[in-house]
Amino acid sequence: AKNVGVLAMDIYFPPTCVQQEALEVHDGASKGKYTIGLGQDCLGFCTEVEDVISMSLTVVSSLLEKYNVDPKQIGRLEVGSETVIDKSKSIKTFLMQIFEKCGNTDIEGVDSTNACYGGTAALFNCVNWVESNSWDGRYGLVVCTDSAVYAEGPARPTGGAAAIAMLIGPDAPIAFESKFRGSHMSHVYDFYKPNLASEYPVVDGKLSQTCYLMALDSCYKTFCAKYEKSTGKQFSLSDAAYFVFHSPYNKLVQKSFARLVFNDFERKASSIDEDTKEKLAPFSTLSGDESYQSRDLEKVSQQVAKPLFDAKVQPTTLIPKQVGNMYTASLYAAFASLLHNKNSELAGKRVILFSYGSGLTATMFSLQLREGQQPFSLSNIATVMNVPTKLKSRHEFSPEKFIETMHLMEHRYGAKDFVTSKDCSLLAPGTYYLTEVDHMYRRFYAKK
Ligand code: ACO
Repeated sequence: AKNVGVLAMDIYFPPTCVQQEALEVHDGASKGKYTIGLGQDCLGFCTEVEDVISMSLTVVSSLLEKYNVDPKQIGRLEVGSETVIDKSKSIKTFLMQIFEKCGNTDIEGVDSTNACYGGTAALFNCVNWVESNSWDGRYGLVVCTDSAVYAEGPARPTGGAAAIAMLIGPDAPIAFESKFRGSHMSHVYDFYKPNLASEYPVVDGKLSQTCYLMALDSCYKTFCAKYEKSTGKQFSLSDAAYFVFHSPYNKLVQKSFARLVFNDFERKASSIDEDTKEKLAPFSTLSGDESYQSRDLEKVSQQVAKPLFDAKVQPTTLIPKQVGNMYTASLYAAFASLLHNKNSELAGKRVILFSYGSGLTATMFSLQLREGQQPFSLSNIATVMNVPTKLKSRHEFSPEKFIETMHLMEHRYGAKDFVTSKDCSLLAPGTYYLTEVDHMYRRFYAKK
């Protein structure tokens, strides 16, 4: 199979959100802390009628319908998620309801979990399958679904929720350059979920930022080395049109791209102009550790990176800023933002993605974009995803109502024997929602 990659995509996020500006006031944070300090505009969240299973049911049925794909044509279904609803039964098995109905139970794949990286693991599994001897000619389907919620405190404004589905096959408009991949994996406690009775993570925020940036450096170095070995040319930021990052909050994305510029400076790569060279020169003697701690380097590198950031990263930031961290879906929501903003200009371009999951696992990988054939074309993907309408039709909750919802969800997490309000008045037609969890913890969903 040639040009294996993403043929089609759809995104779903809850229609309920809270403005970061309102949260700042409510939390007594200084003005601009969440909007400028974290760089976030709005936070999407599930109410009691939605969860990671309902969101994935919604996005999978929507993708199949809108691209007119027969459920019998799916041969592999992989889910990435870090939102644990059941320690044994995978989210994938819930999604089988859609396929069983059509007589298709011959579908490989289960769930992949490691913080925000599970979606990338799922995606690689599907791409590798299509590229392998075990491929039976049918499509792969990847689902990234998460509800990111934090306990009260500084991490809470970095929550979010969404599900993304991606159809995988050959001759894709979004094709993998599978040779160019750099990974970095190691054992750290930066963000983890050891308390199985709670949906909330234990998080060392500062450590997680440093781990993210160290993993980014390491992946970029490996990526560049593999590129150079394979092509005989040095890689620089000029060799890709766009860079897409896992986006816990926008400020970290700004810091990440600045870090790549600093990498290119240290590698003496061709993307660095004289002015940048001069401004970064004072930092060339810093050790690796010092460079992560230096506020001056952070400031100066973000400043010199700004024009390139605006050109190569800004178009990827829309959905993550509007919805928040979607964990496994975050990177792909950033990529969806790029497709939305630039679909008509992407053919022939290379896009680099950086996936990070705490704990930690990270990979930088490369995509080559082509216009594609209907219905699997870049422009049709943007049309189907319909991001502006989905963003505009959301309902803003007050911070009080958001917190009330968080309390109810805490109460419901791991609970049995309850029915939900079944109030789906805010949901768009076609959305799945949770109606009941019975005395055996069995979950029931309906479609609006
Ligand atoms: N106006 C403008 N900026 C402000 C203001 C203000 N009024 N007040 C604060 N800031 C800035 C700070 O200077 C800082 O920016 P900087 O890093 O560029 O200096 C930023 O706002 C954040 O403020 P801090 O006080 O540094 O951090 P805080 O204690 O509020 O926590 C954190 C932020 C650590 C990101 C927290 O939200 C968190 O733990 N989030 C979850 C962890 C996370 O997402 N990690 C990322 C990788 S792992 C993953 O994806 C889950």
